[in-house]
Amino acid sequence: MARINDNYLKLKAGYLFPEIGRRVKSFADANPAAKIIRLGIGDVTRPLPPAILEAFHKAVDDLGQSQTFHGYGPEQGYGFLIDVLIDKVYKPLGVNLHNGEIFISDGSKCDTANILDIFDLGNKVALGDPVYPVYNDTNVMIGRSGEADPKGYYQGLVYMPCLEENGFLPDFPTDKVDIIYLCFPNNPTGTTASREVLKKWVDFALANDAILFFDAAYEAFIVDPVLPRSIYEIEGAKQCAIEFRSFSKTAGFTGVRCAFTVVPDALTATNARGERIQLNRLWNRRQSTKFNGVSYPVQKAAAAVYSEQGWPQVKAIIDYYMENARIIRTGLQKAGLTVYGGENAPYLWLKTVGGLSSWDFFDKLLRECHVVGTPGSGFGPSGEGFFRLSAFGDRDNIEEAVARIRRNLA
Ligand code: MLT
Repeated sequence: MARINDNYLKLKAGYLFPEIGRRVKSFADANPAAKIIRLGIGDVTRPLPPAILEAFHKAVDDLGQSQTFHGYGPEQGYGFLIDVLIDKVYKPLGVNLHNGEIFISDGSKCDTANILDIFDLGNKVALGDPVYPVYNDTNVMIGRSGEADPKGYYQGLVYMPCLEENGFLPDFPTDKVDIIYLCFPNNPTGTTASREVLKKWVDFALANDAILFFDAAYEAFIVDPVLPRSIYEIEGAKQCAIEFRSFSKTAGFTGVRCAFTVVPDALTATNARGERIQLNRLWNRRQSTKFNGVSYPVQKAAAAVYSEQGWPQVKAIIDYYMENARIIRTGLQKAGLTVYGGENAPYLWLKTVGGLSSWDFFDKLLRECHVVGTPGSGFGPSGEGFFRLSAFGDRDNIEEAVARIRRNLA
């Protein structure tokens, strides 16, 4: 008799975004005339810019000629893309990496989940609350937790509340932990971390022999030149951190799929005998066995993001989304709402009005404004009373959504 992985039954609700999709569909079916504006899931809306498309098309054509045809690529990613990342992404930050330290993949969602494969289940894991649900749910799925309590905290995981009172920046865990998830700019709160804040985390990780999982999927939306974009800008981080980066939001690749993960050579953790083992070696083994790489045309398109023509085009789209964020932020503030984030991040974190719960606010906004957002409580118990709006919409929709919210809630 085949047995299931019982850990899946511990998960309380369906994954957040499909759950929202279901509710919106049932509203739309009942109200076919409603023009619904979707600012829930952080999905991009601008088309791929010309330089990226051109590289993509050319690479597809390469596959039609025997001289330029590509079959299986390296599981770790093509050297042409890794070299671009080393030179164009990390070098300008003063970070030197070599090509064995960067692994190309089809998404940071998968990487932040799959990385758990190379760590023992006995590790204590700390994560923010609210948090990108993938970090929490994949730890439950793999068997690192017990059941959830009535509030939604899973036994055995360590939660670091990110509240208005602490500026949505988690305090250090008081329990001894081995793995700490950090995400800056933060999803969902839109908070960023200064160099000083990141230095404290690196120092903490080094002092406690812990590993940081640093999710920097939204670094491209940092506007303030003083803010760090990579954890490796902090001294000592190569000894304690894995960094996750993505082309999804940076370059409109949510449907194209390309990301990368950095596992520095200097990063180690212990085996059962207490000997230190390079994590890079294990991740390489994991990827070579369970993954066959990202397609050649996608990697060519990704490399074009940082080309001379590509980057200004990509940057213009990032600026477009950040202007959306400004419109939402200032518009809703004028309506008297308390709004966080949206300055160096594409997410706005609002306080619900009238003390409504996050889901009641979701229903109210959907019913009265035909606007979809994401209930803060879907990101964890400390998200209750908050609501996330994404700035990845089309400009007309963003302006219309803000106008509707102002009309109905002000
Ligand atoms: C979000 O809305 O939080 C993101 O789109 C989810 C993701 O990147 O997987």
